[in-house]
This record gives sequence, structure tokens and C-alpha cells, in this order.
Amino acid sequence: MFLVTGATGGIGRRVVRLLRAQEMSVRSFVRLTSHYNELEHRNSDIFIGDLRQEGDIQKACRGVEYIISTHGSASDTLAVDYRANIELIDQAKANGVQHFVFISVLGADRGYEDAPVFKAKRAVEKYLQTSGLNYTILRPSGLASNLLPLAERFRETGLYLLIGDYKNRTSIVSTDDLARMIVDSVTIPAVRNQILPVGGPEILTREDIPRIFGRVFNKEPIIINPPLFLVDGLRGALGLFNPQAQNALGTFRTLLANEFFCNSEEIANLEMIFRFKLETLENFLRRYLAV
Ligand SMILES: NC(=O)c1ccc[n+]([C@@H]2O[C@H](COP(=O)([O-])OP(=O)(O)OC[C@H]3O[C@@H](n4cnc5c(N)ncnc54)[C@H](OP(=O)(O)O)[C@@H]3O)[C@@H](O)[C@H]2O)c1
Repeated sequence: MFLVTGATGGIGRRVVRLLRAQEMSVRSFVRLTSHYNELEHRNSDIFIGDLRQEGDIQKACRGVEYIISTHGSASDTLAVDYRANIELIDQAKANGVQHFVFISVLGADRGYEDAPVFKAKRAVEKYLQTSGLNYTILRPSGLASNLLPLAERFRETGLYLLIGDYKNRTSIVSTDDLARMIVDSVTIPAVRNQILPVGGPEILTREDIPRIFGRVFNKEPIIINPPLFLVDGLRGALGLFNPQAQNALGTFRTLLANEFFCNSEEIANLEMIFRFKLETLENFLRRYLAV
């Protein structure tokens, strides 16, 4: 039995789909408010709970052999990104879990001081590495599925909001490719007890993204490019009445201000280990947007 957390998220729902396509038994950890119909239709067990509750994690882990942690939070980093994963690791040990797959983030080890999610991911990575469990830690760059709503907006308006330096490099990974790597991680010996950076096959600059949208929709992009200090201004103002949102914006700012890409050796390594060709962003968008 696989336990998948974040099973209604961009990565998690694809992981459940793949596992069920292989007729694996899956328990999807979902919230009562989540959209989990699709998972039920695929005959996944549905465990309704909240990852902020230790008791829910304990119950969800009973009898599972594999844990795939794909959940993430918009703002409750301490409880969801950090504590819930520590509890999942403890419960994995208590239940004799055979393999734990953790989705971290590219750059988790760079020591970004002002980015709580990056710090939580690194702390969880370290805890997992010393847990004695078999594990695989995948550190993805940006996910292609996150760009789908932006692409839909672009289709209607031709507008693309690009905050900060448009020359910064990124390697957007197909969320379907990432899901496949996650599922294969439990059976490929080469990735046992490894940390792998995960990106797409091309190094893009951030301004390449609206250009790709432009090609996909045959529309000239109108790029709106406010400077990064606008985010700093917003953070400062938010800090006066909502410190949690101010912290979350620290992670957002870190993502905007830095480069997140895999080099060609890292990509070749992924393709060699997992034995498939990684999909380009343009291909991913054309598949999902039916153009
Ligand atoms: N997005 C990126 O570009 C990117 C890049 C690198 C790494 N990552 C990492 O990849 C992972 C997945 O990203 P994603 O984009 O697939 O995430 P996502 O679509 O935002 O999904 C987050 C998932 O976590 C669940 N969740 C949040 N709080 C919860 C709670 N208290 N109890 C139970 N479930 C809870 C959500 O449930 P609901 O459906 O109920 O909201 C959802 O299923 C995250 O760990 C993220 O940090 C993402």
C-alpha cells in the first residue's frame, strides 16, 4: 500500500493516477475540503484528515509500505512543510515502511535565509537522510502544471506578468515526467538513498516562457515587467498586519530573485537513470491546452 500526501495537488494527483494505472493499492491523504472525486473514481482509498494533526498522520500511516510526500502549503510552512513531514518520517519508521519519497525543491541546500519553505525542505531532507529509512529525495525546479492557469490567461489577453529579472534561467519540468520519476524511485536501485535535482530538458530564461506561450497560441506576448522591489514594498506593508503572509512572500521573492535550473549533465543523468526522454515545456502545454 502506498500513502500519497498532497494527493489532490499538481504532483500528487498524477502520482495517484500512475500508481492506479499499475494497479497498485493507494491511500490518498486528502482534506475534507479537497477536490478528491477523481481519486475515488480511480479506486484509491481516501483518507480524510489534516496534515497539521499528528493523530491523522498516525492513522493514515498504519499498514503502509511506501510513503510519497508531495504536499505543500501556501503559508503554514512550520506545520505543513516541516512538522507534518517529520511526523510522516517517524511513522514510516514505526510502520517499517520500505521506501520514502520526498519532494523537496531545487536550491534547498543553498541556505536562503529568508525563504521558510526552502529551510523546511532542507531540514526535512536531513531528518530523512539520518532516519535509517530507504529514501529518495527529488528536488524539482518549477513545475509545468503551475503555468497552465497563466497560459489560459495569456490565451485570453496576450498578457504575461514577469516580475524581476527576465534573463534569470529556469528549467521547467513536466509534472507528468516528475510523477513518473517519483513512482519509479521506489523500484530503481540507483536512486535509493539519493538526492536528485530535477528539471526539464531545456534551460530557459524567464522571458522564454511568454515567447513559448506566444508560439503555442500564435499570439504576440505583451510582457509586463515590474521590478522586484515592488514585492519588497508589498512585503514591508504586509508585515505590519500579517507576518505569516510576509514570511510566505519571502519564499516567493527568493523564487523570483534567483536562478533554478539543472545543467545538461544533470538532465542526461536523469534520462539515463529513469530511461525516458524528458518533455519540453512547449510539448507539455500543447498537450494540456489541446493546441
Ligand atoms: N509548484 C512548484 O513549482 C514546485 C517546485 C518545486 C517543488 N515543489 C514542491 O512540490 C510539492 C507539490 O507541489 P504542487 O504544486 O503539486 O502542490 P499543490 O498543487 O499546491 O498541492 C498541495 C497539496 O498539499 C495539500 N495540503 C496542503 N495543506 C494540507 C493539510 N493541512 N492537510 C492535508 N493536505 C494538505 C493540498 O490539499 P488541498 O487540495 O486540500 O489544498 C494539495 O493536495 C510541494 O511540496 C512543493 O513544495 C513545487
